[in-house]
Amino acid sequence: MSRIGIFGAGYAGLVTGACFAELGHTVSIRDIVPEKIDALAAGCVPHFEPNLGELVERNRERLSFTLDAGEALEGCDFAFICVDTPPTYSGDADLSRVWTVIEELKPLEGRPVLVMKSTVPVGTGEKVRSALDARGLESWGYASNPEFLAEGTAIKDFLEPDRVVIGAFEESDAAAVEELHGGIEAPVVRTDVASAEMIKLASNAFLPTRISFINEIANVCELVGADVEAVARGVGLDSRIGTRYLRPGIGYGGSCFPKDISFLKLLAGNSGYHFQLLNAVIEVNELQKRRVVTKLQKHLGNLRGKSIALLGLAFKAGTDDMRDAPSLVIASRLLAEGAEVRTWDPVADARGLLRSARQCDTISEAVTGADAAVIVTEWDELRSLASPETRAAMRNPLIIDGRNLLDPAEAKAAGFVYEGIGRAASPLDALPETPEREPETSPARKE
Ligand code: UDX
Repeated sequence: MSRIGIFGAGYAGLVTGACFAELGHTVSIRDIVPEKIDALAAGCVPHFEPNLGELVERNRERLSFTLDAGEALEGCDFAFICVDTPPTYSGDADLSRVWTVIEELKPLEGRPVLVMKSTVPVGTGEKVRSALDARGLESWGYASNPEFLAEGTAIKDFLEPDRVVIGAFEESDAAAVEELHGGIEAPVVRTDVASAEMIKLASNAFLPTRISFINEIANVCELVGADVEAVARGVGLDSRIGTRYLRPGIGYGGSCFPKDISFLKLLAGNSGYHFQLLNAVIEVNELQKRRVVTKLQKHLGNLRGKSIALLGLAFKAGTDDMRDAPSLVIASRLLAEGAEVRTWDPVADARGLLRSARQCDTISEAVTGADAAVIVTEWDELRSLASPETRAAMRNPLIIDGRNLLDPAEAKAAGFVYEGIGRAASPLDALPETPEREPETSPARKE
């Protein structure tokens, strides 16, 4: 069994560390935020990820948390870089946290391997290798071992992955990283470093490409009278295509897809290639979020003074993560149109991000007196939204279902005007007449 130092106690670092501990390795996780380390040492996981708390607890003996890089590196066989690489103003990856970790490395006994989990531009491994050599750290090996963890299923994704990708300069380093994954049943793809880096970017660009594709099909379905749910199933059952990542909706969000697709586009551009397809994927996604507003306008006309309940804030169900969440764009557009926005989410908190919106504790509070309810995140709690109670509480019985969560026939039978994504809409004249509401008197607060 090996000793592993993990740099970064974020989504990827914590899951990686806890899972390696589960496999029997001894893991020290280092972060620079004292509150995070204190919380973890006290047994609290700072973000919502199903079963992660239990996994950390179960492996307490083999898992420690520290602010001290030296402690994390002590006697380690592997150092994993799991820090975030946010976009800079130019849209490229900010690698400053990666370089800070590299500056903290020191010569160790044997041949420790530095493993890159963070998403980095292709070519980073070469630069890191040169930097290690220049600093007299030739004895450190280097490998790229990208993560493919989706939030909400991250532990399963780690322990039962579709594949493990390992790119190294030295065969022995790749073999060491492969051995570290003993206990995980999955094909191992061994490559050169640049190809491993590209596998990550290409994967996280291909999946959003599928989503934008099905979203465009959905938009055409609305115009020609087809049902995208049936279309996606019929298309996806072709084994050459597959059914996953073909769910139409309000556009993809989260900490990876929007960022990684831009990284690939810029990487191509910086290298002299214009990646046209990715431009379209990104633009379709931006427009998809905004179509919700157009649908509300179609039914309600001018949105000034209208109360809109946004149900779900997290970028997807099963997480409290608001990074690049479509809810933020939709809420901001609605506020800009002068609407009154109430929000509800079972775990995500947007009070700091959307200060002009009213965050409600219950679905019932959010929909009471609302002119429309918009399903933004596919939370299970929303499956029973089209109830007589909601119908009675709302000012207008209008549901825009951004995730196709409800059965349109049931929603319409329950007296709602229902519009999903890529499904036949209720006729426009179905909305009952409601008296005009006085516009809000208090000035809108600045976001
Ligand atoms: C993703 C990748 O799946 C993971 O491999 C990578 O390492 C990190 O990015 P994550 O961001 O957690 O994981 O979420 P994912 O479940 O992949 O969904 C991303 C976004 O796409 C969400 O906004 C989701 O709602 C949306 N989506 C997904 C769709 O709109 N339709 C789909 O069919 C699938």
